[in-house]
Amino acid sequence: MVWTGSAWPVLNRKFAVRREWATRFNRWRYDVYAPLYDKLAQGFAAQRRRSLGLLNPQPGEQVLLVGAGTGLDLDFLVRCRHVTAIDIAPAMLQQLKERAERLGMAVRALEMDGQQLDFPDASFDAVALHLVLAVIPDPQACIREVERVLKPGGRVAVFDKFLADRSRAPLWRRAGNLVARFVATDINRRLGDIVSVTKLQRIHDEDAGLGGFLHIALLRK
Ligand SMILES: C[S@@+](CC[C@H](N)C(=O)[O-])C[C@H]1O[C@@H](n2cnc3c(N)ncnc32)[C@H](O)[C@@H]1O
Repeated sequence: MVWTGSAWPVLNRKFAVRREWATRFNRWRYDVYAPLYDKLAQGFAAQRRRSLGLLNPQPGEQVLLVGAGTGLDLDFLVRCRHVTAIDIAPAMLQQLKERAERLGMAVRALEMDGQQLDFPDASFDAVALHLVLAVIPDPQACIREVERVLKPGGRVAVFDKFLADRSRAPLWRRAGNLVARFVATDINRRLGDIVSVTKLQRIHDEDAGLGGFLHIALLRK
């Protein structure tokens, strides 16, 4: 038999199934990591301060944290009165709620998929994407959703590991990624490829350490 139809429906279906399984895997593994997470991620305080300083959310603005984790960013957002935090892993969110309570912040914490945000268009002034674009299975779906829920003129702060735009990962990095992706994070994504599916403008980008492995960027709608 000769296949005459388009392969797209089949490929799309395959991609959707892969994304669904990867999303479930993330929920499971971050629920497992939750008790240890702060110890592992506390070394990034300087980058968080810098990134959120560039984002510069004002006290009355609507702020969204996507893949908010245990809420390590909240330490730098205590002046903000309208913070919404979403994450796929309930155990991470539980820690975030406890942190918010310790800080005396009223944070709206919701279990939600960052690839399919359950908010109306133009709901937020400022969004933080910290260490999530390299983890979430479909970062382009995530950034499209962020663009949708941002108000015109809204800002996005990104802090993550990226390959330089247009560069190709060396062999060691491609090999290392087989393990890195499984246990923690993809190390070979390019911010330019991710943002290219949107009209968001990259208005700032800087090296954030580890020999250019980490980046901080500011985007505007
Ligand atoms: C490396 S942690 C970063 C947490 C936090 N943003 C920080 O800076 O510490 C990645 C987070 O993304 C969350 N995550 C992974 N996939 C997600 C998805 N599809 N939707 C929402 N959150 C997701 C994980 O549960 C985890 O809390």
